[in-house]
Amino acid sequence: MIDYFKYAVDSDGICTLTIDQPNASANVMDQHFIDSLRSNLERAIADSRVKGILLTSAKSSFIAGVDLKSLEESLINPPQAHVLYEQCWDFSRLLRTMETSGKPVVAALNGTALGGGFEVALACHYRIAIDSPKMMVGLPEVGVGLLPGAGGTQRYLRKLGVAKALPLLLQGRQLKAAKALDLGLLDQLVKPEKLIDAAKAWLNSDAACAQQAWDKKGFKIPGGNSAMIPELGQLFMGTAANLQANTYYNMPAPQAITSCLYEGMQLPMDKALQIECKYFVQLNLDPVAGNMVRTAFINKTKADNLIRRPQGIEKSQHVKIGVLGAGLMGAGIAFSAAKAGMDVILIDRDQAAADKGKAYSKTRLTKALNRGRTTEQKMAETLARITPTTDYSLLQDVSLVVEAVFEDRDVKAQVFALAEEAMSADAVLATNTSALPVTGLAQTTSRPQRMVGLHFFSPVEHMPLVEVIRGEQTDDHTLAHALDFVAQLSKTPILVNDSRGFFTSRFFGAFLNEGITMVAEGINPALIENAARHLGYPVGPLSISDEVGLDLAYKGAQQAHADLGDDFKAGSSVPIITRLVTEYQRHGRKNGKGFYQYAEDGSKKLWSELASIWPQLPTAQQPTESELQSRMLHAQLADAATCLADNVLVDPADGDIGGCFGVGFPLYMGGPFAAMDTKGIANVVAECDRLAAQYDSERFAIPKMLRDMVNKEQTFYGKNPVMASR
Ligand code: NAI
Repeated sequence: MIDYFKYAVDSDGICTLTIDQPNASANVMDQHFIDSLRSNLERAIADSRVKGILLTSAKSSFIAGVDLKSLEESLINPPQAHVLYEQCWDFSRLLRTMETSGKPVVAALNGTALGGGFEVALACHYRIAIDSPKMMVGLPEVGVGLLPGAGGTQRYLRKLGVAKALPLLLQGRQLKAAKALDLGLLDQLVKPEKLIDAAKAWLNSDAACAQQAWDKKGFKIPGGNSAMIPELGQLFMGTAANLQANTYYNMPAPQAITSCLYEGMQLPMDKALQIECKYFVQLNLDPVAGNMVRTAFINKTKADNLIRRPQGIEKSQHVKIGVLGAGLMGAGIAFSAAKAGMDVILIDRDQAAADKGKAYSKTRLTKALNRGRTTEQKMAETLARITPTTDYSLLQDVSLVVEAVFEDRDVKAQVFALAEEAMSADAVLATNTSALPVTGLAQTTSRPQRMVGLHFFSPVEHMPLVEVIRGEQTDDHTLAHALDFVAQLSKTPILVNDSRGFFTSRFFGAFLNEGITMVAEGINPALIENAARHLGYPVGPLSISDEVGLDLAYKGAQQAHADLGDDFKAGSSVPIITRLVTEYQRHGRKNGKGFYQYAEDGSKKLWSELASIWPQLPTAQQPTESELQSRMLHAQLADAATCLADNVLVDPADGDIGGCFGVGFPLYMGGPFAAMDTKGIANVVAECDRLAAQYDSERFAIPKMLRDMVNKEQTFYGKNPVMASR
């Protein structure tokens, strides 16, 4: 057996168990970990010299979480329910053994402890953590469609009571150490160098108690344990209503967590742990969890670790960058880079526009300051890093420039020329264009090899994704250095090959196009909007079109028409948008007029005149909600498959991450490729064929690759033979 633990007993009878996974930079929770924990605990419990146990780690974090490789393996070959139950219960029972062994156990958290790692700590009798801004604890499992299955829900419940535990678990909150101390999830914070001494001092003190509060006679859960208590009854009722309103019951994890607390509060600890374990297994067997784990955890972690970075190229550290255009996007990019510690030269047409771009950072930072999320000093430091100017010569020592001026080829070419005059020859030139092919833009510069697309999303500082677009001539160094920049911003990159609309814009466009097309068919706009939201899209296609701007969509179509000439195929929504913009001057939220009518106070309602322009079908002839959902969804699935077949996407993982984290594809489906695997590719093909015939449309046209996959019984993930050929 590989032992992950070091066992040492001192003269005071304190057994220090140091988790130190061999040949690894972090401790992961795999079977070796569990076996090691069991054997070392058994040894310490049986060791007559030992009067107390100290659990700590030799790595920079306490326990990093579940092992990605074994998780991935279990997604491909899922264990049977009873096997999973045994595994889960075995671990939960092991932690229960630790907390009831009669010997006090202290967790000395020398670094972040999230998920399973924090569950181990919660089963200790006392938790001391280092006092560091990097120290985080929490149970974020809900974010990947799961719940903490090793006692986390029940120990939160018994420590905090339902009212505090429920929101923390439903939001998967990761807490800074000070906040966790405040709540009572941690017992003490100390300077890192004092950690072990403090843990030993507790074990040597009279306070060292080998019994959890909930195992003491007369224990009561804070706030009570009966739904008959009016506050608790109301809380559960309100939570049920909120879950419906926020998730439309598309996500089983929040419901299961709520049930764990509801049922668990009425049961003794050991029974409650079994209930938690059953819900954990139930969630694990649901494709929602599998898809969320794959996309939001496994594939996102790989992307964050720059899996697409060309190998053998030295890592670059961007210290100073340039941003061209200080509008909505440029200001956001400058702010994000300054927050990440980079100096930023922020250029616009005139000083006032550049200053306005910097003022955006000040506004955001002032808000953060008022909420206690930053300090005066940090705010001043961040602002001092941004130099608003019109002077391109200041770009002479930057390593990368991001262009974010108007979406107009000529304007972009002008600023490229000015920037290139000042920039060093090896600096990277990036464009934040939302749709113009990067290869074409690169041709207007003298450095097409050093040009790359960096497509940010709005608002930049909140959106986690950057779509990195490789132009035909982009070289490996440029790609690597651009990816390094994205990593420095702590954002997740996906890599796509160049094409009009790349991946995210066209994939998003397929959803919008389908929704808008329905308006002209006489489908009730409210039905369209609700159908989308009930399926899990955060916003309906008409609302989001208004937010993006109907005028921009109109201009985009015109630009594509001009670029492509006879090859231009107008989407079915283009005539509708054109009428709204040109005949009715409806540009979207920006002028208070779009599919919705916007009041001064920001409230909105669907524009009543839509029905006079496109008469609505009588109620009895309105299609079902599921038909509308299928149209919007399959238009996107067909487009994603086409992007992969055409090599716009190099891997389904980028499409899934990009869809979910960039353009609001429902995360519970795991992204378009995960959704196709879950539905069954044959079913997706059949539904796309049905829709294509019924609506006589190319919008549901699928590539040959998808039909071939059906014939060969392939899937996108699983054995993934499609990708093996790349
Ligand atoms: P914006 O209109 O808010 O900002 C553009 C800025 O560029 C303005 O401050 C303008 O003064 C400046 N500018 C124009 N011509 C210039 C010149 N010759 N020299 C220097 N500065 C000049 O536009 P926004 O929304 O920030 O978009 C910028 C780019 O980002 C566009 O290519 C757009 O397609 C793209 N984009 C926009 C997204 C969005 O959600 N708004 C999302 C992703 C990409």
